[in-house]
Amino acid sequence: MDEMDNLYLKVLQKNRMLTDGFHYTVPSADTYPYQWLWDSCFHAIILSHYKADDAKAEIFALLSKQLPNGMIPHMIYWKNSRKAAFPKIEWGKDGTSTITQPPMLAYAVWQIFKEDKDRKFLEQIYTHLYHFYKYLLNDRDPHEKHLIGIMNPDESGEDNSPRFDLPLGLPPKQTRDQSLKRRLELVTQNIECKFDAPFCMRNFFWVKDTAFNSIMVANLKLLAKIAAELKIDEDAIYFMKQAEDIAIAMREFMMDDGLFYSTYGKDYKKIKVKTWAIFTPLFAEILSREEATKLVTKHLFNKKEFWPKYPVPTTALDEPAFDPKGFWRGPTWIATNWFIYKGLMKYGLKEEAEEIKRSSLELIDKSGFREYFNPLTGEGLGAKNFTWGGLALDMD
Ligand code: GLC
Repeated sequence: MDEMDNLYLKVLQKNRMLTDGFHYTVPSADTYPYQWLWDSCFHAIILSHYKADDAKAEIFALLSKQLPNGMIPHMIYWKNSRKAAFPKIEWGKDGTSTITQPPMLAYAVWQIFKEDKDRKFLEQIYTHLYHFYKYLLNDRDPHEKHLIGIMNPDESGEDNSPRFDLPLGLPPKQTRDQSLKRRLELVTQNIECKFDAPFCMRNFFWVKDTAFNSIMVANLKLLAKIAAELKIDEDAIYFMKQAEDIAIAMREFMMDDGLFYSTYGKDYKKIKVKTWAIFTPLFAEILSREEATKLVTKHLFNKKEFWPKYPVPTTALDEPAFDPKGFWRGPTWIATNWFIYKGLMKYGLKEEAEEIKRSSLELIDKSGFREYFNPLTGEGLGAKNFTWGGLALDMD
């Protein structure tokens, strides 16, 4: 085990928690002392390499708070959570939030299954997975256009990304408070409309996000594999078909000159801001080999867009919104690098993927397991001892 592995084990030790009999991992004990949905999926992926049972515990903790409609909340405020820098937002419900996050659950579960081939685990949790993805397919696509909608930027996991400036009515240069204020307004409206997702989306925030839909496509394909493993052939066929339909709709509504953009409003206006999300169709495997190579050459390895000294910035360098310290408005994050790495590998672009791995390890080596990094200088920013960093160790 090398030095980085050892350091990471210390981070894990600090961030693993036990409440009400549930084991879970917080993103950072000092800054983010709660459990988050996509974070826990990342943590389960990482934990699967150390101890599959710990990874399973992470999933069981998430599923324990699934709502009756199938939605899995993006935050669980476990009771003994410590006070932290992160404000405890009132979501109108006891103990959890009322929005969700990118559906990485099937990926995490399949990753655990690949490690220990425990079919019993799949049997135990399948109904939960089924209802979660059915909720997204039904409630988040009320017009049956096969694109999944989000009702708050935080559901994308990229809270203040410039992808959401237009629908929020915010300028490219803005403060984090300005963005938070608008997102909290959406929380209040969500409570007022009794968490009715189609209503909230139609009236307050109607966005079909590229990254969210790419993640959905990749996960539905894995959910189909899980169903097939359990010999529920009907579901396997159904979920695969849903993945294909979303991929077709992404091409129809999001694509412009080779790039996939998030859309907003009932007429699906494209939000033409270049963020790392333009690379997520690689993860979903919805590009032809030729399209993939073109995307990577023209945009990823382009010094004016996504290839500064410490890639990959979450917002392109030539966007007016680019801010090297601005949370999701420029900094490099290990999780987004991980998605790009996996996407490149799916297309056999191994050398290109190695570059992403090298950059990720270099950032951790230089600045530690930080939440995000300045893409121009490599400076570590945000929370310390951030658990997502372990995804760099899953780049293989
Ligand atoms: C921030 C991030 C979000 C993450 C959460 C906990 O809100 O934007 O993606 O889930 O912190 O780490």
